[in-house]
Amino acid sequence: MQKVRKVVVPVAGLGTRMLPATKSIPKEMLTIVDRPVIQYCIDEAIEAGIEHIVFVTGRNKSAIEDYFDQAPELYSSLQNGQKADSLAMLDDILPDAGMVSFTRQQSPKGLGHAIWCARNLIGHEPFAIMLPDMVSFGDTGCMAEAIELYNQTGENVISVEECHPSETGSYGIVSPGTTFGKGFSINGMVEKPKPEDALSNYFINGRYILQPEIFEILETQKQGAGGEIQLTDAMLSLMKTDNFYAQPFTGRMFDCGRREGFVEANVAFALKRADYASASKSKISKMSEYTGLR
Ligand code: UTP
Repeated sequence: MQKVRKVVVPVAGLGTRMLPATKSIPKEMLTIVDRPVIQYCIDEAIEAGIEHIVFVTGRNKSAIEDYFDQAPELYSSLQNGQKADSLAMLDDILPDAGMVSFTRQQSPKGLGHAIWCARNLIGHEPFAIMLPDMVSFGDTGCMAEAIELYNQTGENVISVEECHPSETGSYGIVSPGTTFGKGFSINGMVEKPKPEDALSNYFINGRYILQPEIFEILETQKQGAGGEIQLTDAMLSLMKTDNFYAQPFTGRMFDCGRREGFVEANVAFALKRADYASASKSKISKMSEYTGLR
């Protein structure tokens, strides 16, 4: 079985649900407490043993490339100001040289098309996909849990999570087959089914491990819902010949591409951070005094 070494992180979307912030800032650079959304994704990938990260970028996303580069002026100013802690922290988050690649999706034609843009950088091996605006919160990262199931099956694995049955219309929903390890086999997938048509409440939460044959399917994939080239449509084609498994995530994902998820993530991470939890708790408990909310 081939190890999952590479991850594709698509960041070429327009982020319209987070306007006006995303008019000039990529949504992946919005901060949760003091770290950009993209940093949480990279930490999760490294925890899962990923060795190479391929970003699919688009227009107005140069801030993401700059984030993974050295910043000589900032470094020398921190050195002069003897801010050793800040310097160490910046060194700590800088990926090893050559660990990160960038390719370009010239226009946002959909998630499936963005993944296809990474085909030459991935080559013929199983690979992971992480949607960075879905931020993992739990004792173990979501990607690490999906890779654990991949290591038992050697096939396609999709991470899932349970939503309230009334919310299936917001997600891609999988249809469960038989139990396998900590997960189960998948019989089918439907994009945004009405609650009465949904075959489960397990939604696809933004982490995938796919076989490279998906690229051949994406090459000729027609536009689907919303006029976009959809990854789900290509996965449904691959499912005709290959097995798919689902790994239910033991933590939870925050959808930071939406306002509610982004606010929730900021509060949750502030309360979880060892260096920040007690200050956050005391500030949050006093908020009712000036917001009027109880
Ligand atoms: P989303 O649909 O959540 O992102 O795509 P979006 O299009 O940026 O957001 P809204 O709907 O306008 O607010 C999921 C992921 O796929 C990437 C996005 O960057 C995001 O990480 N994506 C989407 C691409 O890279 N290219 C595309 O053409 C579409």
